[in-house]
Amino acid sequence: MSFVYNADPERGREWQRLFAQRAPDIDFRLWPDIGSAEEVRYLGTWAPVEDLARFPNLEVVFSLGAGVDQFDLGSIPSHVPLVRMQESGIVATMQEYVAMAVLALHRNLVDYIAQQRSETWQALRVRPASQCRVGILGLGQLGAAVAQHLTGLGFACQGWSRTRRQLEDVACFAGGDELPRFLSTSQVLVCLMPLTAETRGILNAKLFTQLPRGASLINVGRGLHLVAADLLAALDSGQLSAAVLDVFDPEPPPVDHPLWHHPSVLITPHIASMTQPESAIERVLDNIARHREGREMVGVVDRQRGY
Ligand code: GLV
Repeated sequence: MSFVYNADPERGREWQRLFAQRAPDIDFRLWPDIGSAEEVRYLGTWAPVEDLARFPNLEVVFSLGAGVDQFDLGSIPSHVPLVRMQESGIVATMQEYVAMAVLALHRNLVDYIAQQRSETWQALRVRPASQCRVGILGLGQLGAAVAQHLTGLGFACQGWSRTRRQLEDVACFAGGDELPRFLSTSQVLVCLMPLTAETRGILNAKLFTQLPRGASLINVGRGLHLVAADLLAALDSGQLSAAVLDVFDPEPPPVDHPLWHHPSVLITPHIASMTQPESAIERVLDNIARHREGREMVGVVDRQRGY
């Protein structure tokens, strides 16, 4: 019985060491050294793997990331569940990143970077975090954890989800009817939704006009949530004041893409959150145990919903 790992080889060696310690009965294999295809029961992968039919005894595909939009769900046999990565390391690193981005925007870091470049010394008004309302689009595992973390930092937090959620100290909005009211009071908007046919291109001109003038955007979802031309227009008209972008489509953005050089945009290379081998392996081994015992695994993708 083997587990095949298909992603960054350096982290793969860490997985290999941890698997040897914690699950010596499972033969851990690093792609492309997959051994006998008949023995492959579990596949851990970041990107889709072609021709899964070559693994006749495959039981589960584990996405090594939180998002599963990169997979063609139709190409995974229907009896093989696809499981997205829900583990504490991804959650904690996402909380850190969004806190960094919200604090950077709230404390005018974009302006101060420009000021430093022009040797300008000019203090801008400092307001307490409680006067800054952060709206989280998407209140799944990550969105909810981020909202609670920001609340702990003193920000006024609200969230929007397709179906209603309840979170302590976070105003929760739900469904299309409540979206305009949510947007009209979100001074910083954080996109943490899964990418689906419904959410593709949701960060567009129509949405930007519903935010308060001068609002800012943090995109830690997927590049395809954003219509980049609409963001540039909103920044240039002053409807939006700044954006922090961690995800693009394609990645990296082309060399001459105007977002690279826009003075109101901070860019990071898709590093907002990262699966942490220690905690991810605990989740995977727990899920394997659940699967063997016929119990429900954590994070199984609903193919209808797409996440
Ligand atoms: C990263 O983008 C992930 O899906 O975990």
